[in-house]
Amino acid sequence: MIKNKYLNNVKIIDIGTKKKCIAKNDDNKVIFLNEGVPGDNVNIKILKKYKGSAEGKIISYNKHSRDKITPKCNYFGICGGCNFQDISYLKQIKLKEKKVLKVFKDLNVSKESLNKIIPSKKEYFYRNKLEFSFSNNRWISLEEIKSEKKLNKNALGFHKPGKWDKVVDIYNCHLQSKLSDKIKNLVRNYCLDKKLKFFDHREKKGFLRNLTIKTSLDNEVMLLFQFYKRSKEISGLLKYVQNNFPKVKSIVYIINKKHNDSIYDQKIIKFYGRDFINEKIGDLNFKIKAKTFYQTNSLQAKKMYKIISNWTKIKNQEVVLDLYTGIGTIALSISKNSKKIIGVDIVEDSIKIAKENSKNNNIKNVSFIHGDVKNVLDEIIIKYGKPSIIILDPPRNGVEKIIINKLLKILPEKLIYISCNIMTQYRDIKLIKDFYEIRKIQPIDMFPQTHHIENIVLLEKILK
Ligand SMILES: C[S@@+](CC[C@H](N)C(=O)[O-])C[C@H]1O[C@@H](n2cnc3c(N)ncnc32)[C@H](O)[C@@H]1O
Repeated sequence: MIKNKYLNNVKIIDIGTKKKCIAKNDDNKVIFLNEGVPGDNVNIKILKKYKGSAEGKIISYNKHSRDKITPKCNYFGICGGCNFQDISYLKQIKLKEKKVLKVFKDLNVSKESLNKIIPSKKEYFYRNKLEFSFSNNRWISLEEIKSEKKLNKNALGFHKPGKWDKVVDIYNCHLQSKLSDKIKNLVRNYCLDKKLKFFDHREKKGFLRNLTIKTSLDNEVMLLFQFYKRSKEISGLLKYVQNNFPKVKSIVYIINKKHNDSIYDQKIIKFYGRDFINEKIGDLNFKIKAKTFYQTNSLQAKKMYKIISNWTKIKNQEVVLDLYTGIGTIALSISKNSKKIIGVDIVEDSIKIAKENSKNNNIKNVSFIHGDVKNVLDEIIIKYGKPSIIILDPPRNGVEKIIINKLLKILPEKLIYISCNIMTQYRDIKLIKDFYEIRKIQPIDMFPQTHHIENIVLLEKILK
């Protein structure tokens, strides 16, 4: 393949990581394309050449795939959030299922063990949390540049992918309830009106940093504002929001003078109402706070917890560990299945709330421990004995190798590994493949319209 060469009638056959489309030329060489849908027939230009592959750009379409649909959102292709929107939902879930099989196939996965992906009933408006960034460096379209009009460069929206200092100004987002748009747009208007300083991500200065909106299934709403510095403007803005949205249950804020937006080391200041919202999962009630993690698609989370509960029903089990427990949702959902359950999380607020959640739900056989899994795991085993089941639900980067080594010493009968990153999940499971066999793989669509996949794997110890 030659750089700058044009190729005609190229068929897109699959989708790779982050929705890079995969096409093949006559010599069977892979060409990655930045847009398109499997089934499209396109004419392309080769932009870069690698050893066994190339990167190309679509010049024109000869035939569109029958799975291609018109994206709902005006920001499709710009904000980078919902990059699967031009693919029918049925095809989206088929692609995800296929991807899971492709990734796990060299781990001896039988056809029977791969369950069908569980689709999301809500294809849009499914998220319970969105974080919008303020910026004085709005992403500006080519038409706007050409128009030579004087432009307002302030924005409240999502970071442009690959451009950490630019934000796409978002007025309508199809991911969270419409109330979220109303709140965000009112906040933006007020801040523009009062000429408040939107954050300058390059210079690290300004006043307004970001706004996180959390919602529950019962429409309880929490607003978390992040400011760069203290100012008398804070109460004016927050009072205005409170007056306009009196049903919002919680308005909290942070003064964050650091260079990054991470809130875990920051003090949460309550401005109005409570410092939490309530969520219901089955017959259990959970408090959710500003710093605590909660699965972003509440309806799908409910289904996921039900599956985990079914997988943890084994006879004579003594101890179950729920590592990376968050606010204890899994530990508490499976409390009826065993004698003792211990949840561990590194975020202190999550553990405090997990303890409250267990008390409020009158659950007595679950304990929660604050700490890094790698530091507290040995002590837990000494205190409670070897568990029969360990549940792992780590962040995207997976389970640290030091923890995998500890698991291989403990060797529980079952491991349940939940992940939103099948690549790290696969990497970790490969490390234990001589000791565990995969009994079930259950993908679940937590993130419709995106390439992201949530996946649960049930592993059983190989009896030697
Ligand atoms: C994907 S979330 C899962 C939360 C929970 N299982 C749920 O379903 O809501 C990952 C959790 O791991 C926690 N975490 C990250 N690194 C950790 C570590 N080294 N030790 C303990 N917990 C950690 C985070 O605070 C977060 O709550």
